[in-house]
Amino acid sequence: MPIQLNQVYYTYNLNRPDSKRALEDISLTFDDHCFTALIGKTGSGKSTLIQHLNALLLPDSGRVQINEHVLDFPVQVKKNGKVNYRKMKKLHKKKLPQVKEIRKTVGIVFQFPEYQIFEETVLKDVSFGPKNFGCTEEEAIEKAKKALTMVHLDESFYERSPFELSGGEKRRVAIAGILAMEPDILVLDEPTVGLDVRGQREFFHLIQDLYDQGKSIILATHQMDVVLRTCSRVIVLDQGKVVLDSTPLKLFQDKEFLSSSSIEPPIVFSFAMSLIERGMPIRLENIRSTSTLAEEIARVKGGKQ
Ligand SMILES: Nc1ncnc2c1ncn2[C@@H]1O[C@H](COP(=O)(O)OP(=O)(O)O)[C@@H](O)[C@H]1O
Ligand SMILES: [Mg+2]
Repeated sequence: MPIQLNQVYYTYNLNRPDSKRALEDISLTFDDHCFTALIGKTGSGKSTLIQHLNALLLPDSGRVQINEHVLDFPVQVKKNGKVNYRKMKKLHKKKLPQVKEIRKTVGIVFQFPEYQIFEETVLKDVSFGPKNFGCTEEEAIEKAKKALTMVHLDESFYERSPFELSGGEKRRVAIAGILAMEPDILVLDEPTVGLDVRGQREFFHLIQDLYDQGKSIILATHQMDVVLRTCSRVIVLDQGKVVLDSTPLKLFQDKEFLSSSSIEPPIVFSFAMSLIERGMPIRLENIRSTSTLAEEIARVKGGKQ
């Protein structure tokens, strides 16, 4: 049980007229080696939830546990009899010795991660994180090289400027920067926004690869074909609450839920469902992509059951 959230609430600008509740009573567990999708409309709370997974945000109430590290509010700071959350958070953040450990366990890749690239060579940029976490120069370089191999960038990239790479390559450098800190859990917040179709495809192959290499993946996305192809669990958020915690297979068959929450199933899944409605004995649990659907059709046509 590497990550557990218990009754987490979070409100932006708490106790101010412009306050906005973003998370409400969130209780979730993310197991070892999971591949979980986080979906929901814009503004449903995905990014806010994600920022709780490595202590970038702390809950107003409830608790977040990451491995043995617990994030909650043991001390209440009061001002004029009222709980002063801003002060509490400031104090708490400063005092959190576990934040560094947590950031080593959970790596977050935000939208447009390439904006965080700043060093003049790829190798320098990727080794920055481990150096910051106290590694020696040599250790940091070694970790950086390993991370670059994981994202399929070879030696020829080491001394290049990250700024002259393609969009997809830049994003891989940014991810390598996170991987170099050797997190067990990789959280990605709509990571393919702004990439072209080929860049997106390569990127999702990469995430699948990282999962196969043992990383846990938590992925916020609007791309339902990706959810179907890669994820084994899907969590749907709506107005800061978890409204469904299920599998892609169950979600995409639940027509009532889909229409009430404006989620479009992937075309390949809808197509498979129409074939079933027309009497073809397709096994929906085998459908992940066009090629698996083709295999199913061939199986049915070939008469093999
Ligand atoms: N920095 C912020 N200040 C105030 N409100 C915010 C801030 N960030 C997000 N919100 C609000 O919190 C809610 C959840 O936002 P967010 O977590 O970004 O959702 P999502 O990632 O699903 O689009 C939205 O109503 C959004 O407007
Ligand atoms: Mg978001």
